[in-house]
Amino acid sequence: MASASLLKTAVILDKSEWVKGQSIRVAPAASVAVRSHPAASLTVRAAASYADELVKTAKIIASPGRGILAMDESNATCGKRLASIGLENTEANRQAYRTLLITAPGLGNYISGAILFEETLYQSTTEGEKMVDVLIRQNIVPGIKVDKGLVPLAGSNDESWCQGLDGLASRSAAYYQQGARFAKWRTVVSIPNGPSALAVKEASWGLARYAAISQDNGLVPIVEPEILLDGEHGIERTFEVAQKVWAEVFFYLAENNVTFEGILLKPSMVTPGAECKDKATPDQVADYTLRLLRLRIPPAVPGIMFLSGGQSEVEATLNLNAMNQAPNPWHVSFSYARALQNTCLKTWGGRPENVKVAQDALLVRAKANSLAQLGKYTGEGESEESKQGMYVKNYSY
Ligand code: 13P
Repeated sequence: MASASLLKTAVILDKSEWVKGQSIRVAPAASVAVRSHPAASLTVRAAASYADELVKTAKIIASPGRGILAMDESNATCGKRLASIGLENTEANRQAYRTLLITAPGLGNYISGAILFEETLYQSTTEGEKMVDVLIRQNIVPGIKVDKGLVPLAGSNDESWCQGLDGLASRSAAYYQQGARFAKWRTVVSIPNGPSALAVKEASWGLARYAAISQDNGLVPIVEPEILLDGEHGIERTFEVAQKVWAEVFFYLAENNVTFEGILLKPSMVTPGAECKDKATPDQVADYTLRLLRLRIPPAVPGIMFLSGGQSEVEATLNLNAMNQAPNPWHVSFSYARALQNTCLKTWGGRPENVKVAQDALLVRAKANSLAQLGKYTGEGESEESKQGMYVKNYSY
């Protein structure tokens, strides 16, 4: 099933058109996904009213030398970050930290989009300006995490599934009203626990439903099946699993009539498991990861925005740089949380007098990754802190 071939074409049909006895919803002048499958008739993308805007938003986010700042940690995860610098997990502390991040001067030179947690989307800075307005002033597109987190997947090998489809359409419409223009849904696949066919299917189907609902409500969906770093396996095994996962994800994206030009992907890089004794060089990571992308990702997709997944800040930047040594069919960039924020958070330490120097630390990382997106990062002058790995087993976000 996962190998059904996909084909993109531009078809314009009248609103009332019927195809092989099925009524269809039509995107005027929008691209149309056609799937060749014995049992399937022509399927056509909905989201007519947002078709052009989705493509435009995705292109802005995937603009040269820029990537995404993921700052959408749930309150629980943000609490762990704050605890690491001795701060309480209060709304005021979360607000102070996130104000620091988004008000860093010139951040928009390197950052095209920021993923927010719901609290932040509706929050103002410590100075009383809406967070969303600050982002727009910085030329950064506001985004929103829409999934409701991971829970055990019954009937699987101790694996997870991602909640959040119930009520997603109305939540997405409200997020759009509030200024969000893209969305994120993170689900995970565990290699040591299988992955079972059930877990991969559930993850892929959930991502596809979420992507279709997001597009219907004007939000560019970031499609993120995170293949966790957990495990002792080598890089070949990650490559094999990633091929299976992405085949299935694209199969269901097509089946759900998602417009590929209006999505962004957030994959894990293809690396050995965190507990594997053989480490991979940036060139090896780039080689495997680009091979995977070429085998599985249609060039219609505008941007591939990698997660950092527990790599050190420098490692994530070096790997990205290695992937941009030659032109790619897609914008190959970053959507890092830990690999952008770690040194910044530690430098801040919750002290108002450190805000400026912490912002400088964020800008150092943002600029380094901007250079890596352009394939021009040298790795010179990096701090010891930025070389520390941040891997946590079974990481929740
Ligand atoms: P990391 O870069 O810390 O892996 O987080 C990115 C993210 O958004 C995970 O969903």
